[in-house]
Amino acid sequence: MTSADARFLLAIESSCDETAAAVIDSGRHVRSNIVASQHELHRRFGGVVPEVASRAHVRHILPVIDEALRVAKLRFEDMSAIGVVTEPGLVGSLLVGLTAAKTLAWLLDVPLVTVNHIQAHLYACRMAADENVFPAIGLVVSGGHTHLFDCRSVVEYELIGATLDDAAGEAFDKAAASLGLEYPGGPAIERAALSGDPDALRFPRPMLSAGLDFSFSGLKTAVLYEFQGRPGGPPPPETSEQRVCDVAAGFQEAVVDVLVGKCERAVRERRREYLLVGGGVAANTRLRHRLSEMCRHEKISLVLSPREYCTDNAAMGAIAWESLERGHVAALDVDVTPGLLRARR
Ligand code: KG4
Ligand code: ZN
Repeated sequence: MTSADARFLLAIESSCDETAAAVIDSGRHVRSNIVASQHELHRRFGGVVPEVASRAHVRHILPVIDEALRVAKLRFEDMSAIGVVTEPGLVGSLLVGLTAAKTLAWLLDVPLVTVNHIQAHLYACRMAADENVFPAIGLVVSGGHTHLFDCRSVVEYELIGATLDDAAGEAFDKAAASLGLEYPGGPAIERAALSGDPDALRFPRPMLSAGLDFSFSGLKTAVLYEFQGRPGGPPPPETSEQRVCDVAAGFQEAVVDVLVGKCERAVRERRREYLLVGGGVAANTRLRHRLSEMCRHEKISLVLSPREYCTDNAAMGAIAWESLERGHVAALDVDVTPGLLRARR
């Protein structure tokens, strides 16, 4: 592509607690990828506080967009389109990104393209592959979602399983809080688990042998009981650093068993030859290892999101190019859709 016909997309992401902007060219090359994380702000609450998140987005959104252009060595006038996540997420957070995106699209007179955050997590896998990876089973596993899709093409997704209660990442975050580990809990549990024995304590594998839906809230409570004791039961054993590590390892192994088991069932049932896995929890090394073992055994191809695109970012907003190329442009009065996709009952 010569610089004369290069086309650039500015993608904006603010659905939860990361303010992010990226510049991606039409060849899907990421020219810049800037993420301002709010972890420090939310840490003392042990989770994301929506009002705190939207106020931080307001402070960060313009500097983050400026930085994305600066790193890409481009100007606003070089942008051919603006992509923005409008669903799902926290309503106040989504509105900050959408307002910035609408303003830019109007000022620059370029198309506005809406992005579904969950589909973008799976698109991060597509970006890492240098071949067509569809049709595929796709698992998005993060703080807000645990969703299993049958993806017929890059834009056609059928929801075939979802969590009935907590998302897997949420369970990591809450289990970590019970263990006295810091937020976000996933990386903290992964670190602690390295020094733990996964067989020291046997945690339940919720719904492992039942369909394609998930449930993680019982597992999170099981960790809490290990530390506080069951209501009306005997007092728990004394806490030690080793016990924290053992519980972390046992909990992680239980979550990984369930996630890998459901993926295995889905690829078998749907006879798919590719498995795509994205979202924050997909950064987990144990999960990545166990998924690759399972896929080798099933003789299918595993396409993991690159680690840098697992947790929330705007580079995965490159999926906006797919919409744009299909003529899916949003009107400037488009609204956010905060609600999550729900499991079928
Ligand atoms: O995709 P993401 O940034 O935000 C949502 O869309 O929800 O995912 C954040 C989640 C948090 O719950 C965090 O604890 C989890 O991903 N996470 C991990 C790891 N890194 C982040 N969970 C397990 N292991 C990790 N290494
Ligand atoms: Zn996410």
